[in-house]
Amino acid sequence: MVVASRRRGKKWWAAALWLAVASVALPVCAAPAGQDAATVARLASGIAWHRGGTVLQATALREGVVRIRIGRDGKLPEDASWAALAAARAASAPVSAVEQGDAVGFATGALTVTVARATGAVSVRDSAGHVLLRDLGAPFFAAPATGEGADGAQGFALVQAIPDDAHYFGLGDKFGPLDRLGRSYAMWNTDSYAYREGQDPLYKDIPFFIGYTGGVYWGLFVDNTWRLSFDFGHAVPGQLRIAAPGGPIDYYVMAGPDAKAVERRYAWLTGTPAMPPRWALGFQQSRWGYKTEADLRGVVERLRKERIPADAVWMDIDYQDHFRPFTVDAKAFPHFRQMVADFAAQGMHTVAITDLHVADLPHAGYAPYDEGMAQDRFVKQADGKPYVAPVWPGPTLFPEFTQAATRAWWGTLYRRFALEDGIAGFWNDMNEPAIFETASKTMPLDNRHRIDEPGFAPRTASHGEIHNVFGMLNHRATYEGLLAFKPGQRPFVMTRASYAGGQRYGVTWSGDNVSSWNHLKLTVPMLTSLGLGGFTFAGADIGGFAGIASPELLTRWYELAMFTPIARSHADPQSRPQEPWADGPQHEAIRRRYIEARYRLLPYNYALAEEAARTGVPMMRPLFMEFPQARIDGAPMDLNFTNDSEFMWGRALLVAPPPAPESPGAYQVILPPGGWYDYWSGRRLDAMRSLMTWGVGGQLIQGRDMDATTPHMVMVEPKLDQLPVYVRAGSIIPHQPPVQSTDEVPGGPLALDVYPGPDCEGVVYDDDGRSFGYRQGAYSRVALTCDLAADGRVTLRIGRQEGAYRPWWKRLRVVVHGLGKPPRGATLDGAAVDRIAYDAQAGTAAVEVPVQEAGGVLVIEPEAK
Ligand code: NOJ
Repeated sequence: MVVASRRRGKKWWAAALWLAVASVALPVCAAPAGQDAATVARLASGIAWHRGGTVLQATALREGVVRIRIGRDGKLPEDASWAALAAARAASAPVSAVEQGDAVGFATGALTVTVARATGAVSVRDSAGHVLLRDLGAPFFAAPATGEGADGAQGFALVQAIPDDAHYFGLGDKFGPLDRLGRSYAMWNTDSYAYREGQDPLYKDIPFFIGYTGGVYWGLFVDNTWRLSFDFGHAVPGQLRIAAPGGPIDYYVMAGPDAKAVERRYAWLTGTPAMPPRWALGFQQSRWGYKTEADLRGVVERLRKERIPADAVWMDIDYQDHFRPFTVDAKAFPHFRQMVADFAAQGMHTVAITDLHVADLPHAGYAPYDEGMAQDRFVKQADGKPYVAPVWPGPTLFPEFTQAATRAWWGTLYRRFALEDGIAGFWNDMNEPAIFETASKTMPLDNRHRIDEPGFAPRTASHGEIHNVFGMLNHRATYEGLLAFKPGQRPFVMTRASYAGGQRYGVTWSGDNVSSWNHLKLTVPMLTSLGLGGFTFAGADIGGFAGIASPELLTRWYELAMFTPIARSHADPQSRPQEPWADGPQHEAIRRRYIEARYRLLPYNYALAEEAARTGVPMMRPLFMEFPQARIDGAPMDLNFTNDSEFMWGRALLVAPPPAPESPGAYQVILPPGGWYDYWSGRRLDAMRSLMTWGVGGQLIQGRDMDATTPHMVMVEPKLDQLPVYVRAGSIIPHQPPVQSTDEVPGGPLALDVYPGPDCEGVVYDDDGRSFGYRQGAYSRVALTCDLAADGRVTLRIGRQEGAYRPWWKRLRVVVHGLGKPPRGATLDGAAVDRIAYDAQAGTAAVEVPVQEAGGVLVIEPEAK
């Protein structure tokens, strides 16, 4: 507790100020500082409002994105950001002037912004007149703060109205229900070993949420790196309070009307997620505790011997010499490079941890220390001395990632691993930054960070300001460093801490979760929320990191994880083995089956990943993203009283794990309107005429058929080897033959499973899986649609291939589902196709056709009447 005692007597200004600002009962119509009359000026794409010392600028960046900045002392905050892209901030859209009684503002085609002349209170409406954001008064400013790291910072609070029907989703890694209404949250990246439900804050700061009101969705991103807080009507019902102890008031409002549109706008503003290499979608095996080369070789050997498809094996801190980043324990790993090469030859990618803390190791030939010291690369204390604190290697130093030059230097530390050893991916852990032996678990708030960065005025900032972006900048330095070494290759870097915009640098995971049923259950809202915050490429440690997973829990976890973006089994040294074979052949068989299912689905998953990287729409989606007004009352589906454990895996698949996964009791699955198929059997569900239907006000109406307008319910008896997955009628899903690694070229045709229904569509996407060639046209995208005529004829339209890449498949095996009778025949572009295989039990007809560059029309003719 050395550090703690050193700090005694200092002011914990941040926490105190935060509490004061966040919880004080604000005067709802407080006048801003100064009594002068307000002035309003029209700008090319917005307005500037000014009264006393307070200045407000509202501008349209594009039709559906407006930015609000508020400053004190007559100055707007600096136009600089770690998150919002410079090009987005520099954009502008045409606006028309709006005058409304006491308010003045502007409108784009999608949003109307007005500012109350007297107070500066802001309102934002969408083009249909829904009030998305409404300040209940002027911003509340706290007095300049003094004390540790305060730098005269001024806190603020914004208070907005919560409409009666509102719901809120997002803020990244918050561990509890998806809907944030009625709760409050702090944004402060925190090392959170074995966190509990409701524990807050955790590892990341993503101050972006999606709001829902009146049947429409909208977004709010508050670009402030300090310890922000969001209170969604917890302290004062009906009031959304956003407060921070310092930093700018600089926020962006994004129009919907649906959640996908909000996500696209957020991605335009903060960047799309980095496209990972294809192998990142394979199964990955990790454990803190693979201590030697023999351990690791044993794991890889066993995966291959047991024919459990897998793509990556992870090395945690044990491979290093005394836990020093960028070293290898040559005794434990005598043939390190050879080992990595041997794995690669088996289609197994090696991922190595490289934490950001550099061991304080003078005169030992430790290059990260020697170079860092010589080049003055480390974070300093308030007294100007390098800051040294204990983490895994003992006393360590921390690179100053707020300097572009330091990030470039950090990147060079990967030379050996990336270029010579052939390590495929890296893991940036502990970068909140986590510090041992201190109550705050992190650096003192008055540590100094030099900002020397294109787009920012050079200055020195306190840790209070930089803390939340530190991890993201570490992640960025690694990503950009790897890119510099191998410009043509997609880096794979996983980070634990991050800030909004960090999705541009790679993947993340939910940290030190626990081997408990509740953690398994809450993995769904956790990963879904991370996806809403841009971090779609995220996973949770399979089996839980801390604690002892029962065999059943572990099996259930494997099942669910196969429908999440990153599927990595990981655990801490005290846990029991969590590899797929850990509990004998029966459990292993189930786990293998689900891992194999993930590999079969790879073409679908890869297309989802590409869509996410291109548009920002996440792979794992809350139901409201696909079915925005699925309930009769227009409320999103996720708000039913049963659970929010259901989610959409892309557009086509609904995954419905048990809401109480430990319970043997039957549970209800609510299916949005439209038809559904059971994914595993391939059979259409609407044969089941006795389904209950979800009615107005949550009443269950028994005995109705499934139809296109009402949601319906299926009762599921949980079975250990079954994870219910349903296919939305109107989907075409590509599947591939089995492989052991994503590097392996599958043998046989690509299967196109056609599930006829409304707005039937699908896509097949492929590229080389590792380079950026797809950006120059080296990809293949084929759009698919289908329709089901009244006479039962199914037509599949295969579009012309877009892009120049030649995928591995030469033939297509088209499987049409939901056929009660054998078809009469099939034609491709009018010519008869021979050999239709009809499976009466599955209700499917299958034909095989060659791939045609120009596409084609395949018709399955119904049985003659
Ligand atoms: C903390 C990480 O969250 C965990 O995944 C890792 O195993 C340990 N650090 C050791 O590196």
